[in-house]
Amino acid sequence: MSATINLEKRHFPVLLDEIIKIISPQYGGTFLDSTFGQGGYTEKILENSKNKVIAFDRDSSALKLSEKFKTHFKNRFQFNHKRFSEIKNINNKNIKAIIFDLGYSTDQIFDEKKKLSFNSKGKLNMKMGLNRFSAHEVINKLDKIDLTNIFKFFGEEKDAKKITKEILKKRIQKTLQTEDLVEIINKTKKNYNFKINKSTKIFQSLRIFVNQEISELIFGLINAYNLLPVNGYIIIVTFHSIEDRIVKFFFKNYSEDKKVSRYLPQAKNLNKVFEILNKKPIKPSAEEIKKNPSSRSAKLRCVKKIKEGGNFEELLLKYKNLLDIENIGKKLC
Ligand SMILES: C[S@@+](CC[C@H](N)C(=O)[O-])C[C@H]1O[C@@H](n2cnc3c(N)ncnc32)[C@H](O)[C@@H]1O
Repeated sequence: MSATINLEKRHFPVLLDEIIKIISPQYGGTFLDSTFGQGGYTEKILENSKNKVIAFDRDSSALKLSEKFKTHFKNRFQFNHKRFSEIKNINNKNIKAIIFDLGYSTDQIFDEKKKLSFNSKGKLNMKMGLNRFSAHEVINKLDKIDLTNIFKFFGEEKDAKKITKEILKKRIQKTLQTEDLVEIINKTKKNYNFKINKSTKIFQSLRIFVNQEISELIFGLINAYNLLPVNGYIIIVTFHSIEDRIVKFFFKNYSEDKKVSRYLPQAKNLNKVFEILNKKPIKPSAEEIKKNPSSRSAKLRCVKKIKEGGNFEELLLKYKNLLDIENIGKKLC
């Protein structure tokens, strides 16, 4: 049987060679692909007939594609149509590596129904799958403070307050559609950076909020640690600075001794549960970016678990503000 699956259009799996080099699937084992997408990583891992993959994805189009993988790879492939914050429920103590690829697949970006982009028209959606509310409800229902916080903290948008004020004004006249939001942003926002579209940051903030990406990431990482045996790897590809900062803190804070003061010796970090495998993040080569321009903002970080018993309260405390903002979503459910 051939090791590959024929699909009409494919997403380019980002940093694939680099990931394969880290996880060494040539020696056999079980791997967890927590963001199956179009199956690029999974398919490469399953080329070796000694390997198994347990996959997760929240999107129902990934679920559909997973049927093809099941037919092809039989019991070497298992799919869970779930969010990756739920990986703790997997009953397998022998996983060699857990991989997260946090971007959007080509399929999702071009999916007219998802309306992820500021070029879409009509009702804003942005749901990746298994969501509780859409971006349409967010911009039409939430109050001034909540909207401002979402734009400010998830989009790092300097004009968050002004944009919110205009949204509230316009909302009195009509229910806002995607094009109304874009018009408001274009009219209100100063152009600080001509290289990016004025709507980029607001749209990013809505995607993060609708998909609860911060809590997914934080609890996904903690659960990945809890599920992995010692010597297992966590590998993660991020695409924006908020995600990357969280991952960097998680890996660094739990892998290094702490400098309390430059006059004192380093304090032993009892919570040192990882070994960092690459001090600087791995980025796509110029050749990969040329082939797949959307890989340009990707950053890969990875660690090896070296000890059980990690306690991640400090991580939860550090990002409490962002988790609290995501909790605003409960008002819409
Ligand atoms: C960039 S794609 C992955 C592409 C994949 N590595 C490949 O090679 O085809 C990211 C995928 O992660 C999924 N995803 C994002 N957040 C998720 C979450 N919290 N739980 C489960 N799946 C998630 C998305 O639905 C999307 O299909």
